[in-house]
Amino acid sequence: MSKGLIKRVGGAERKYVEEVLATDFANSKNCGILARFEKAFAQKFDVKYAVAHTNGTATLHSALYAAGVRAGDEVITTPLTMSATCMSILQADAVPVFADVVEDTFQIDPRSIERIITPRTKAIMPVALYGLSPEMDEIMEIARKHNLVVIEDAAQCFLGKYKGRTVGSIGHFSSFSLQSTKHMTAGEGGLVCTNDADAADLVRRFSVLGYGSVSRAKGIITKDDIQNPNYERHVQMGYNYRMPELCAAVALGQLEHLEELVERRMDVAALFLDAIGDCSWLRPQATPAHCVNSYWAFTARLVSSDIKWTEFRKKFMESGGDGIYAAWMLSYLEPMFRKATLDFAGKEKVIEATHKGTLQTYEKGLCPVAEKIQPQILAFKTNYWDWDRALAQAEILKKTIEQLT
Ligand SMILES: Cc1ncc(COP(=O)(O)O)c(C=O)c1O
Repeated sequence: MSKGLIKRVGGAERKYVEEVLATDFANSKNCGILARFEKAFAQKFDVKYAVAHTNGTATLHSALYAAGVRAGDEVITTPLTMSATCMSILQADAVPVFADVVEDTFQIDPRSIERIITPRTKAIMPVALYGLSPEMDEIMEIARKHNLVVIEDAAQCFLGKYKGRTVGSIGHFSSFSLQSTKHMTAGEGGLVCTNDADAADLVRRFSVLGYGSVSRAKGIITKDDIQNPNYERHVQMGYNYRMPELCAAVALGQLEHLEELVERRMDVAALFLDAIGDCSWLRPQATPAHCVNSYWAFTARLVSSDIKWTEFRKKFMESGGDGIYAAWMLSYLEPMFRKATLDFAGKEKVIEATHKGTLQTYEKGLCPVAEKIQPQILAFKTNYWDWDRALAQAEILKKTIEQLT
């Protein structure tokens, strides 16, 4: 049955954008759209506070600051993720320490986390990769035992579930991205979520140049604040990461039909799963029974020694398939981590000063499971707003498998 065409950007987005434009961007006519969006997002994601940002990298930086991560602290994360995860750790002058992943789910392995905790470890940054939650109960238990802060990077996971809980509501902080490929978008954008009121104040101030008059609930500086010669503006160092109101307007509209947007991706993933069937050499990312995978992308591992990744992609595309994405190079194998070319934009000096040779060695062999599966992963788009196109892609996938079997 055809599920029809979904309008990714609809009437609500346009209505809210009009509302912002009608203010002429005059402070006195501010329509409060940023606060409305933050409140609605927090409600939808089962958290007390959501602080909107310019993007989902800035959010990680703010969360690390509010988590108390400072120069030389270690943050444990996965190497199998988009680069922003570990870049944000470096932006915070902290040191990324990489844990290995679980072969069938691709998610950070709690047992590996436990093995690399040191007295300098301050936080864990798990990533809900491709829309699936990591094993959060185990991660939270490790954090409790070692007094660590957990920052969920949920950039790729909207309305995913872990044991009935919404992904992004479990850690001490979570971070979402509204970049254009994500489940909901404002072109760019992001949010930090937390249930801790003081932490939300810290996030807010860090993300708006350290202004003292803003807080978890107040994202803008008012006339009463600034029209006072004695107004002391900056109580701390901060960055300019505030989400523009036009983005908040689009995002508020997106939030109103987020279920539809997520459901479409899950339905498309179900088509691809069906197309793979019981193929022995193509293994879909495993979704444990206690998780709902929100399928930012549909992924499978090519485990055949006879078929090459590039050959599969070529065959798929020759039959009319859209492109297939590879998994990102593991973060620590990127050129910026290589000794000869090491370039952390000056952060390496902080790391050298604080670690003096005790650093994890960023080279092959560090995370064997991640190294094994990264070259095997095929990632298929799930953002088909036209259902018939999705059906055709699934059919092409089935045909490609038949041809190669
Ligand atoms: C896992 C992950 N973390 C962080 C980010 C960074 O988000 P943004 O592009 O909004 O900065 C992305 C996405 O692009 C991502 O996929």
